[in-house]
Amino acid sequence: MADEGQPISVDEDVYFRSPSGFFAQLRETRPVAAVQIPGQGRRWVVTRYEDVRAGLADPQLSKDLHHWPTGPRTWPSQAVNLHAHMLHRDPPDHTRLRGLMLKAFTPRRIAQLRPRTVEIAETLLADMASAGGEIVDLLIRFARPLPITVLSELLGVPAADRAWLEVAVVDYDNGKDRERVIRELAVYFTDLITAKRAEPGDDLVSALVRVRDESDAALTDIELLSGVFQLVMAGFDTTVNLIASGTLALLTHPEQAARLREEPSLLPAAVEELLRHTNPLNHATERFTLTDVVIGGVTIPAGEWVLLATSSANGDPGRFPAPERLDFNRQPGGHVSFGHGIHYCLGAPLARLEAQVAFGALLTRFPKLSLAATPEDLRWRPVSLMHGLEALPVRPHGPSRPTLPLRQR
Ligand code: HEM
Repeated sequence: MADEGQPISVDEDVYFRSPSGFFAQLRETRPVAAVQIPGQGRRWVVTRYEDVRAGLADPQLSKDLHHWPTGPRTWPSQAVNLHAHMLHRDPPDHTRLRGLMLKAFTPRRIAQLRPRTVEIAETLLADMASAGGEIVDLLIRFARPLPITVLSELLGVPAADRAWLEVAVVDYDNGKDRERVIRELAVYFTDLITAKRAEPGDDLVSALVRVRDESDAALTDIELLSGVFQLVMAGFDTTVNLIASGTLALLTHPEQAARLREEPSLLPAAVEELLRHTNPLNHATERFTLTDVVIGGVTIPAGEWVLLATSSANGDPGRFPAPERLDFNRQPGGHVSFGHGIHYCLGAPLARLEAQVAFGALLTRFPKLSLAATPEDLRWRPVSLMHGLEALPVRPHGPSRPTLPLRQR
């Protein structure tokens, strides 16, 4: 029998070419195994659906470094502490922070965003139509600006700052000069909170400032700052990936795209299947064991880091028959793209709304949309957590007509 504690090493190129492909292989051979992950170090990687789902809800897998088994630890970033948010907390702090955030991040506030999201999507697509040139990058023209605009308007980030914010978040996710980016984002959001406190608006940051000031000690200043930072980090690139990779999936499964055009009421189910199929994240954020924990029959000792491979869980044939098939008839739900348990994605209603609007508007506006590259030639960002394209070249008006030789015209 394999010694699961003996770490498997994986070549950097192999891993970053496709973390989800690597996890899928592990699922077949070593479903719970220690792996030396390039750039991260030793991680216990869990890849089967049932084990991943159980791990996501296991209170013995902690997110809070204050609870490290041999004594509290701090995050490697020394630039500034922006980790005081719910995704890095266990109960009861997690319960308190999530409850306070939900006072501002209400279903009503999210539902109200729909008409404006449609407007933003249609404007971006109209710009894309008139951009000239046969081929455009759908990532840059549509998949990125849509979520950053919606999120910025929701938070109350002024229009003039959005381009800067977009670059900062992408740099952060790519691990590019992270300490500098964290410092700059901390300064930016501190100033934004000060401005909203002085002059509140009808936006989420003003609502959070109100929650902070009314609850007094229930939410500290650093928790407020971290909470705003986290919303941007969690809510932007993830949705960009869903829109871009989802569009790619539609273009490579034209029969499913055609069904969606004919039956727009399929959109909510289609978005669930696209979430499962495209995996905007390769794995959940890291957890560590508070004590010895048994997962899938394997004992992971206390004080070890664990990666729950949500992408591999979504592709587990034991849970989703013929998982590689994109099929809008599949019973929706059950995927773990938004996680599971107490950390289940707080922004899921917003992400679903944005994706439904984006795919609906795109398919209507460009009935002949086609891919301007072979899928094998597309490049994916070499990052562990995020599963996203570098670019998505498309022909909005369909494949160019073959040019006939002159004598046949
Ligand atoms: C397609 C888009 C999105 C995907 C795939 C996604 C995925 C996830 C996942 C997997 C988690 C749990 C992580 C874990 O347990 O390790 C999570 C948590 C979270 N997400 Fe999302 N997310 C998306 C969009 C958003 C948006 C738009 C927002 C808000 C603007 C958001 C805010 C959050 C927050 C605040 C948490 C932490 C919840 C907690 O710790 O209780 N997400 N998300």
